[in-house]
Amino acid sequence: MAAPTDNSTSESSTNLSDLTGEWTDAGVIIDIGTGDGRFVYQSARRNPKKFYIGIDPNVRPLEKISEKIYRKPVKGGAPNVLFIQASVEELPAELDGVADELHVHFPWGSLLRAVATGDEAVLRNLRRVCAPGALLEVVLGLDPLPDQTEIQRLDLPALSLDFIDQVLTRKYAAAGFEITERRILPASEWPEFDTSWAKRLQQSEQRPITYVIARAV
Ligand SMILES: C[S@@+](CC[C@H](N)C(=O)[O-])C[C@H]1O[C@@H](n2cnc3c(N)ncnc32)[C@H](O)[C@@H]1O
Repeated sequence: MAAPTDNSTSESSTNLSDLTGEWTDAGVIIDIGTGDGRFVYQSARRNPKKFYIGIDPNVRPLEKISEKIYRKPVKGGAPNVLFIQASVEELPAELDGVADELHVHFPWGSLLRAVATGDEAVLRNLRRVCAPGALLEVVLGLDPLPDQTEIQRLDLPALSLDFIDQVLTRKYAAAGFEITERRILPASEWPEFDTSWAKRLQQSEQRPITYVIARAV
């Protein structure tokens, strides 16, 4: 469960990889920008009483896992998983109010821009699919030097704690999310994190991880 906000940048009170495991026995978890679906698949296998929905407009990387989920559970199947082709800008109305947890891990493109700048229309879309009290977790792995071109292209702000507190907190609140925890951890303190991009980005010795946890209010 998310801890109260403080100013520390070095001590993580939330085990990000276990956020879903620690919360409740049941519930619906949505992963937006799910990529190859690894987080959804691995979490669903660990928590068979929960239901996981992975969403991404680009379904090509999902081909392998979306075939695997239909096997028998003893052979790697995951009947508690659904993948949907959609962008965060156009989430299906059928998802309204269903999520107890919402995850956005290492987004890029318009999804990155929306969560990093606090785009109100997109944040409202995220809020729309949340049940009351749902948790939203946003995890970013931006490194100012290697990602300079993308940061400029998307016109992203520097993601400091001050920016989160002074700008994002207000923008997230306007869309119905109360930020309850935010941290910037150095490369040496990356938590265990079960997504393909986490594994990839973690290889850098410089790349910090920034995360925000918010509650739908
Ligand atoms: C770097 S990958 C991360 C994938 C996965 N979350 C992970 O951690 O391995 C970023 C993902 O964001 C998705 N994405 C980009 N723009 C999006 C949007 N507007 N709506 C939903 N997903 C988007 C991309 O298709 C891509 O799969």
